[in-house]
Amino acid sequence: MAERLSPEQDSATLIDHFERPRNAGAMPDADAEAFVTNPVCGDSLRIFLRFVDGRVAAASFLSSGCPASIATSSAATEMVTGRTPEEAEAFTRDDYAAAVDGLPASKVHCSVLAASAVRQAVAAWRMKQAAHA
Ligand code: FES
Repeated sequence: MAERLSPEQDSATLIDHFERPRNAGAMPDADAEAFVTNPVCGDSLRIFLRFVDGRVAAASFLSSGCPASIATSSAATEMVTGRTPEEAEAFTRDDYAAAVDGLPASKVHCSVLAASAVRQAVAAWRMKQAAHA
């Protein structure tokens, strides 16, 4: 059984994503990436996206964040894979929080990193596409 990460109740899904993050690591052949930092706590996230035929073919992340931000980033990489850019950027922080069965009250803000990073990476990909058009 996992040790409690905090006095608040973390869901089993959150703990699972934190302990076994999906798609963790850099992506050398990424088509786009974004780096975001939470100015309040200083936690940061770098997300990488690779696109094939106008869809996210793969996503990965590097984090120096809290367990909630790692878990929601892990979930985000799974959720955006296979999606169009429009679908990927439409996911909200609430969608990522829901994907880990909710966040403790004091950690609700932590899913902002994933939502911001995905949107910025999609925007970076669009700019790259436009530059090559
Ligand atoms: Fe900073 Fe969670 S405490 S993102």
